[in-house]
Amino acid sequence: MTILESLTISDWLRTELKQGRFPPRMPAHRRVYESIRRAIANEHLTPGTRLPSTRSLAQDLDLSRNTLLAAFEQLHEEGYVVSQVGSGTRVADTLPESFLVLDEAQAQGGQEAAKRPAILSRRGTMAAGPVDQPSHEVQPFTPGEDDFSAFPTRLWRRLLNRQWRDPQPAYLDYGHAGGHLPLRRAIANYLRMSRTVNLTVEQVLITSGTQQSIDLCARMLTDVGDRVWVESPCYWGARRVLEVNGLDLHPVPVDDEGMAPGNRDFRRPPRLIYTTPSHQYPKGVVMSYGRRRLLLDYAASRGAWILEDDYDSEFRFEGRPLSSLQGMDQNGCVLYMGTFSKVMYPGIKLGYIVVPPDLADSFKRGLYELQRPGQVVIQAALAEFIEEGHFSTHIRRLRQIYKERRQLLQKVLAPVATVGARLPPAGSGLHLVVELPAHCDDVRVAELAAEQGLRVYPLSLYGVGEKREKGLIVGYAYAATERITPYGRILADVIQAALSS
Ligand SMILES: Cc1ncc(COP(=O)(O)O)c(C=O)c1O
Repeated sequence: MTILESLTISDWLRTELKQGRFPPRMPAHRRVYESIRRAIANEHLTPGTRLPSTRSLAQDLDLSRNTLLAAFEQLHEEGYVVSQVGSGTRVADTLPESFLVLDEAQAQGGQEAAKRPAILSRRGTMAAGPVDQPSHEVQPFTPGEDDFSAFPTRLWRRLLNRQWRDPQPAYLDYGHAGGHLPLRRAIANYLRMSRTVNLTVEQVLITSGTQQSIDLCARMLTDVGDRVWVESPCYWGARRVLEVNGLDLHPVPVDDEGMAPGNRDFRRPPRLIYTTPSHQYPKGVVMSYGRRRLLLDYAASRGAWILEDDYDSEFRFEGRPLSSLQGMDQNGCVLYMGTFSKVMYPGIKLGYIVVPPDLADSFKRGLYELQRPGQVVIQAALAEFIEEGHFSTHIRRLRQIYKERRQLLQKVLAPVATVGARLPPAGSGLHLVVELPAHCDDVRVAELAAEQGLRVYPLSLYGVGEKREKGLIVGYAYAATERITPYGRILADVIQAALSS
């Protein structure tokens, strides 16, 4: 029969559908089809197993009969099930996959290999993500993009050439575990001075960016099924990595003081807490001192690790720079992450993680075993870029450019407040959020903006769990300063029209 001996097929299917491992917009019939197909392909439903009728499944699952008919029809067309009058629908004896295995004679005859069906694992399906996620197309206001034109290309080329002029053999080999030592030193000096991070060079590891840093933490500190708190809304890149590692994502709301855990959250302590305290992504809130203390004390008392993602704190336009959460930590429970994607350019694919002293050696070995480091020449050039002061100069320059763009955008978008939208005050970062009323379809508003050639992201797509705030995430780093006002006017018109209709 089936491995689902203790469960009826409809009970199992109900749980499967509830677990929500599907892209948010996948239609119900496709979810039913996908669940059954995977169960057949994985031999959880074995050949000959009789499936319940579409009528009874529709009742049990509280779905329309048409939904079930559409799912069964597809399974039938693809050969996963067979139907016979009088004996209902059964799992086929020969599955479509088996037709695709080449027999030896065919292979030796040099015939072209049949294509394998693209059956992904659960992790693979999550990693590939929903089909309707924002495509990576840079347009004015695309969040997450830098001003590439401001990058000092000539200077960078000179530094790279310097490395190549007299390349040490070690530059052509795999890198050292933990990364190129001069770069680790340069980062340690920078973090000590600018971000009040408490550290020795030994604690700094070079990674290929924040996503790899998070992935490393998930692999080194958790097991499948462990709980992780994430902010809701949350940075998609972190969420994807944590999900694919099989962790149980528990959304914690964000209020005006940052991540705001309550009694409901404290009931089951997490293993990891992923947070963006300097500038919550995407809402832009700065975590208050009280909330920082609360998180640190809670993590220390429950043996949880805090992953502090400090992705854009260089771009603070007002007030004094904030200290890092890591700098306040007395118990060694914070892993601090930074990236060069924002200050240099995203394609540099370099970031770093500062781990507590006791973890440094294991993390270094783990990272080395999982992925041999490389790009030594670029790391060497970057170390000189920082040590010679170009990094700080470049940050100051970008800060001026982005501050002006932000102010222009805030000004031109101000009229949207008259139709119920809100522009929360925030003095840092590379994007701002226009909060929209709860009844508003922010996906639709983003589509309307796209029709005008403006790519902005709907805030609701960043929500985790049921409760999703509505709004638009508007990046201003990529748009040229002189284009901010005209483009901003178009966006303001789109928002006003959408909220007035
Ligand atoms: C919250 C957050 N963290 C980190 C990053 C950068 O990640 P990476 O270093 O992987 O490019 C981004 C990029 O947009 C981000 O929004």
